[in-house]
Amino acid sequence: MEVKTSLLDNMIGVGDMVLLEPLSEDSFLENLKKRFDHNEIYTYIGSVVISLNPYRSLPIYTPDKVEEYRNRNFYELSPHIYALADEAYRSLRDQDKDQCILITGESGAGKTEASKLVMSYVAAVCGKGQEVNKVKEQLLQSNPVLEAFGNAKTVRNDNSSRFGKYMDIEFDFKGDPLGGVISNYLLEKSRVVKQPRGERNFHIFYQLLSGASDDTLKKLKLERDVSKYNYLSLDSATVSGLDDAANFRTVRNAMQIVGFMEDEMQSVLELVAAVLKLGNIDFKPESRCNGMDESRVKDKNDLKEMCELLGTEQSVLERAFSYRTVEAKMEKVSTTLNVAQAYYARDALAKNLYSRLFSWLVTRINESIKAQAKTRHKVMGVLDIYGFEIFEDNSFEQFIINYCNEKLQQIFIELTLREEQEEYVREGIEWTNIEYFNNAVICDLIENNQNGILAMLDEECLRPGTVTDETFLDKLNTICAEHQHFESRLNKNSKFLNDHSLPHNCFRIQHYAGKVLYRVEGFVDKNNDLLYRDLSQAMYKANHSLIKQLFPEGNPAKVNLKRPPTAGFQFKASVGTLMGNLQTKNPNYIRCIKPNDKKASHIFTESLVCHQVRYLGLMENVRVRRAGYAFRQAYEPCLERYKMLCKSTWPHWKGPARNGVEVLMTDLQVPAEEFAYGRSKIFIRNPRTLFFLEEKRKQCLEDLATLIQKIYRGWKCRSHFLLLKKSQIVVASWYRRYAQQKKYQQVKHATTVVQSYTRGWQARKLLRELKYQKKCEEAVTTIAAFWHGTQARMELRRLKQEVRNKHAVTVIWAYWQGTKARRELRRLKEEARRKHAVAVIWAYWQGLKVRREYRKFFRANAGKKIYNFTIQRIMQKYFLGLKSNLPSMSPVDKSWPSRPYSFLDGVHAELRRIFHLWRCKKYRSQFTEEKKAVYEEKLEASELFKDKKALYPSSVSQPFKGDYLEISKNPKYQKLSSAVDEKILLADVVNKINRANGKGSPRLFLLSKKSIILADQKTGQVKASVPLPDLASVSTSTQSDGFFALKLKEGSGSAVKGDFLLSSDHLIEIITKLHRISSMAADREKLNVNISDEFLVQFKQDKVCVKFIQGSPKNSNSVSCKRKNNRLLEVSVPSSP
Ligand SMILES: Nc1ncnc2c1ncn2[C@@H]1O[C@H](COP(=O)(O)OP(=O)(O)OP(=O)(O)O)[C@@H](O)[C@H]1O
Ligand SMILES: [Mg+2]
Repeated sequence: MEVKTSLLDNMIGVGDMVLLEPLSEDSFLENLKKRFDHNEIYTYIGSVVISLNPYRSLPIYTPDKVEEYRNRNFYELSPHIYALADEAYRSLRDQDKDQCILITGESGAGKTEASKLVMSYVAAVCGKGQEVNKVKEQLLQSNPVLEAFGNAKTVRNDNSSRFGKYMDIEFDFKGDPLGGVISNYLLEKSRVVKQPRGERNFHIFYQLLSGASDDTLKKLKLERDVSKYNYLSLDSATVSGLDDAANFRTVRNAMQIVGFMEDEMQSVLELVAAVLKLGNIDFKPESRCNGMDESRVKDKNDLKEMCELLGTEQSVLERAFSYRTVEAKMEKVSTTLNVAQAYYARDALAKNLYSRLFSWLVTRINESIKAQAKTRHKVMGVLDIYGFEIFEDNSFEQFIINYCNEKLQQIFIELTLREEQEEYVREGIEWTNIEYFNNAVICDLIENNQNGILAMLDEECLRPGTVTDETFLDKLNTICAEHQHFESRLNKNSKFLNDHSLPHNCFRIQHYAGKVLYRVEGFVDKNNDLLYRDLSQAMYKANHSLIKQLFPEGNPAKVNLKRPPTAGFQFKASVGTLMGNLQTKNPNYIRCIKPNDKKASHIFTESLVCHQVRYLGLMENVRVRRAGYAFRQAYEPCLERYKMLCKSTWPHWKGPARNGVEVLMTDLQVPAEEFAYGRSKIFIRNPRTLFFLEEKRKQCLEDLATLIQKIYRGWKCRSHFLLLKKSQIVVASWYRRYAQQKKYQQVKHATTVVQSYTRGWQARKLLRELKYQKKCEEAVTTIAAFWHGTQARMELRRLKQEVRNKHAVTVIWAYWQGTKARRELRRLKEEARRKHAVAVIWAYWQGLKVRREYRKFFRANAGKKIYNFTIQRIMQKYFLGLKSNLPSMSPVDKSWPSRPYSFLDGVHAELRRIFHLWRCKKYRSQFTEEKKAVYEEKLEASELFKDKKALYPSSVSQPFKGDYLEISKNPKYQKLSSAVDEKILLADVVNKINRANGKGSPRLFLLSKKSIILADQKTGQVKASVPLPDLASVSTSTQSDGFFALKLKEGSGSAVKGDFLLSSDHLIEIITKLHRISSMAADREKLNVNISDEFLVQFKQDKVCVKFIQGSPKNSNSVSCKRKNNRLLEVSVPSSP
């Protein structure tokens, strides 16, 4: 049985402040403290969650806890951030209401941690599956990346968010996450160049220096020493409990999961390194003849290294640090910069580089995590924006941050306090108004379009003449003097004239969360956010694809003389959009509170908490909640939801919905004080009443489900029975038919047997008679045969005797003849033997005579000479034999006569080699020049592709034809051939691969000595013409496909449209010809041919990776190219048989 629990079980203090008795500020704080001391950091005010930062890890975020809070009612368990996340997620999934989670509180109160807890809870409870898990992982892993680049240690928080973040997580109708969109708000970029005492620059700088490998640091020209970089503060370079090196690895890993390519990560780190290098550039004054000082870079080493990292020309950047060009409508004026201005320009460049890099990161992450499906999404927004800040020295950044917090407080007031009270009045519910402070007046002081502080700052920035921070303050003093939340010392007839806590160059605003003193210094500059055009142009010229993207205004072709919108204006606009967006969603509040200023656990500083409770308006919140009603719903949906609880309203209620609800409530005997009837809605005071209704509904739904099940089961059984009955009849009829058939067959068989017996008997009788007749005939014949036989045998005997006598005579004659022949043979043989003996003896005698005669001439060395003579004779015979047996003159003929003697082995092999070389030379000498060129091309193809590309062997036997289209003869292409002034070396039809779907479209491919032309196949119209010097390299795979990419040199005229990914049947010929042209041109370097199964292709702005895999021959017999995602095309090549 399910155990029912409640918020009220085992409660420490009061879990919901609405139940606090008596309600006062003291009891409120006491309750918070009591719960905090017992590790209960969460407390409710109705549906708002108060979260106290414990400053230590508590065991309350385990997977078991997730399971405990999953699908439970909000008030069922003790207060937890998971309960709020679960409520929001279920409303989104089941009631189709877009949600937003608004997390507020001052810096270090735990907003970022809370937002991560909400996201991890939603990720744990929503659907699972390979695709969904990938989306979840990408959404969660975007946090470490943004925290590394946008968070820093401040005096208030070791991991303070220095940017605002709003993330929309998108879900499908089942509640599975589809993707997300992140919006970022104003990064505190001044931190890049200067940090207040005790604070650090953004984490990534320290992470890079301590976590990157020696090799990476060497590539980035950095040293592992924080003290070497002016932009990094030294006094808190290491933060206890923060492992920069480990975090660097986490960030790299997260970037990989989010979908950053390796070269993108490298570019990002190069930019970070460049910012560090930029901080080390120092300037010195140099006097000019006009008496003015001009700045010069002091030590050029850092500048040089930075330029190398970014691919900029050192002289261009150096000039941009010494001169400034101002462009008016018609003229350009160049002025020199002094040392202070040069430092200003350097810092402005560093700030812009970093903040633009940050915005690019957000855009890049959005690209990865954006939802693919175009169906309607449900959205859950999570807002984690920098907390309210009061420092000793507050500047433009704090002003902006605090303005944003004012707006959030406004939205809280709007939606919880004012809206709620106004609704009671609107609905005619009896209501005593509760007083609260409405900060709309402060928002107006800042954002009013005519005389708000931001509007005046913009006016000052855009005004001609001398503009300083002081003139801005003067303006504020005149216009805002009377405002009750604005304080300034210089204000005429100001009551602050003698207030020494208010310096002259400052103004003070009474924010809803306290008074903040702002120093005006830097307001105008920061609002202008000026980057000299020379610098942005220098950056645009960089040979670094990311930098180029970050400084589009540096493009000289798009010079815009209009001033860009100010920082304040942009921020106000984006906050306006955010507020509009939040108002369309159902809000869920987490109010974070910081228990102490020491970042320490177990310390509860009452005064600090009391201050936050006051300015967050929590007491008012409780009062409105207590006096009001926990739940309200319009009569129609209410009746629709609960009508099954009463017989009169079920299944249909005829009449107005309100009457129906009244009947329902009376029937259910809900006490009258538990609800009230408004004009269009019913108001339920206590959540428990709502749970009661829900519980009843659940029971009733179960009963209804049982009823439906019962009817369905009955219907199912009946249908089944009828089906059985029908089947039984069919089976019986089939069986009867079968039985009858069987019986008929038996009778038929018996009849046939009887018939066959009768016929057999008749036939046998006839047979017997016929046999008798036949035997009589045979007896006659046999007797005649015996008589003839006896006659014939007698005659035969007589004849045989006659023959035998004749044969005996012949045999005797043959014997006599044989004896005579043998005798004659013996006589002849004896005669021949004697003749031979005579000849041999005579030869011996002759030999002896000759030897005696010759011995006179060869005495001692006769043996050697004879031996040499013999060898010469043998060799002569061997050569002559070889000459007459030589193989054919074809160089491919492998035959060679066999050698007669084994001692000739070496000579024989050498002669074979010499003969082959001579035969080849002869063969070559017959070549014409054209044929030679053809073979040279084939040779070059072999050097390029042999053993490197699987396609090569099949191309060897194909001649390189060049012009496959007969372009000069084809009248269709006449215009085209005249467009190419050079001789066409190759013309063929290739496929141009489309990045969007991986499909190819046919194009004419023409190659001349100077250029490549791609033209439409049907019309012959030129689509692209690439001069060959613009071609940087050609990439192709190692496999048997015809894909190749023409990569263009960055910055060349043709590179604007991006590289070409093509496929051709004559790939080997095309690339060989391209390579040959490039190696023949004296003024160009050789074309680089990359053969690898993975290469990058630049399509306009994006780089796409083309990856080749071996498809199984079963699935596909042809090459197929598919788009896997925005950054990956996959080519599947059938594995070669
Ligand atoms: N629920 C929690 N459990 C444990 N520690 C927490 C919790 N919430 C916050 N902390 C601690 O407090 C620190 C500050 O929290 P966090 O960074 O979320 O503050 P913040 O409100 O986002 O501040 P800022 O406005 O400066 O960004 C965290 O680094 C963490 O150490
Ligand atoms: Mg934060």
